[in-house]
Formats: sequence, C-alpha cells, structure tokens
Amino acid sequence: MLEAVGLVKRFGGFTAVDGCSLTVAERSMTGLIGPNGAGKTTLFNLLGGYYRPDGGQVRFKGRDISRLKPHQRFRAGIVRTFQIPHEFARMTVLENLTVVPPGQLGEGLAAAWFWPWGVARQEAKIRARALEVLEFLKLTHVKDNPAEALSGGQKKLLELGRAVMSGNRCVLLDEPAAGVNRALLGDLTERILDLHRIGYTFLIIEHDMEFIAKLCQPIYVMAEGKVLTEGTMADIRRDARVVEAYLGHSGAAA
Ligand SMILES: Nc1ncnc2c1ncn2[C@@H]1O[C@H](COP(=O)(O)OP(=O)(O)OP(=O)(O)O)[C@@H](O)[C@H]1O
Ligand SMILES: [Mg+2]
Repeated sequence: MLEAVGLVKRFGGFTAVDGCSLTVAERSMTGLIGPNGAGKTTLFNLLGGYYRPDGGQVRFKGRDISRLKPHQRFRAGIVRTFQIPHEFARMTVLENLTVVPPGQLGEGLAAAWFWPWGVARQEAKIRARALEVLEFLKLTHVKDNPAEALSGGQKKLLELGRAVMSGNRCVLLDEPAAGVNRALLGDLTERILDLHRIGYTFLIIEHDMEFIAKLCQPIYVMAEGKVLTEGTMADIRRDARVVEAYLGHSGAAA
C-alpha cells in the first residue's frame, strides 16, 4: 500500500535517512523501531510529504506520490500522528475532532450563505461522528474540556482520534504509547486492534517493545539512517546487528 524506495534525507552535511526502503502491506500493522536518532521520524516526514527527499521515492497504491504536498497525501488517504501531540490547546476535545474532516462546507462563506441547511446538516453529521470516536476512545467524559488539560496519554488517544476522524485508512503513528500510562496503554492497544480488524493499515514507530511485539508484523529496525533488518520480533531479537545498534559494541559483547 505504502512504499519507501531508497529514500534519502540530508540536513546540511548530515544524512538522517540514508537509502531507506520499506513496504507497508495493505491491512498490515508494520512496526518501525530503532534507537534515538535513527531517523524514524524523519522517514515519517518523508512519507507524509513534510520533507522533500534528496533521493528515492514514496509510492502509495502503486503510484509515485513523492511530489505531493502533505495535504495532497492526506487527501490521497494517508494520515499521520505526531511524536509530540499536535492538539489545538484552547479548543475543546470535541472541537479538536470536528475540525479534522477536510473540505467542510461551512468553511466557505458562499456555502454558508446560499446553502445554510446543507452546512448545518453536514456539521451535525461530523459532530455525531466525533462523539462516536470519543466514545470509542473512552474520552466522552472530557469532551468539553480544553485539549490542553488532557493528560499526556489522553492527548495520544486524541491524536489517534484525529487520525480516525480523517476517514483515511493508512495511518502512520509516531510513538503512540510514549507517556501513556499502563491502564490507558491497554485501551490504546485494543483500539488500534479494533481499527485493524475493520481494515485499517498501520505503520507504527515505537520504543515500547512489548507494545510493538503485541501489534506489529513485520517489524523494521532502523539505525543511523539505514534499515538494518526486517522480520518478526523473534527474528529481530536474534539479530546481532540489532543488539549492537541498541547497545553499542561493548554491550553486544556483554
Ligand atoms: N530538521 C532537522 N535538522 C537537522 N537535523 C535533524 C532534523 N530532524 C532530525 N534531525 C537529525 O536527524 C537524526 C534523526 O532524527 P529523527 O528525529 O528522525 O530520529 P528518531 O529515530 O525519530 O529518534 P527518536 O526515537 O528519538 O524520536 C537525528 O540525529 C536528528 O538530530
Ligand atoms: Mg522520532
């Protein structure tokens, strides 16, 4: 469904992503792990169109989308969440969801003037959908609170909710479990599994190995801008290069 083909990204003289290729099969939950600074988020930014690659290609459903802007990739069916949640702090939790769907009629002054019933009807539909998503994420009790008042874990759930509101089925999650407490983590895992069951495709960056092991196959491992290997958690655990990437030479020897 989504493919990175030899992607390269340089910042000045530093190569953050150095010829990365990976394939996210439709309806898979593909994992992406690697030590801090490996280039995982930079790779996401290339897939989402936030950075122009210095080499390589991004393909989506067989089509080269390397030149599409982020909003065009969003319209094509890709949505991503951020490592640091990007909620609108002063808006309520509910409003954070209702602003997501693109091309809302109410955005156009002309539509609001000439077709007010249509606008109202569409707004009601989006609101109903947002309430459903909040119920699904167990956030209904905080729907009227400003988003800035949420806990770190709840903000992560809201990020997932914003992705779901988009209607896009190819979802890139950047560290969805970071800062989420154990109780919420169980919920988050279940919600992602639910979405997977109904046909969502995921690419998930995460440092929490238990979380990745439970959800993802295959798992790609990145280090120093390169994809080291790919496989099941069992394959990866046995791979000396992976151990070395995480622990360094002395650690691997130990
Ligand atoms: N905009 C930028 N300008 C310069 N260097 C950058 C930029 N973005 C990332 N880097 C560098 O590129 C490397 C890869 O960063 P990236 O954020 O992709 O790593 P990561 O694998 O997501 O790490 P983490 O697990 O800590 O989130 C790091 O050395 C980082 O400092
Ligand atoms: Mg990152």
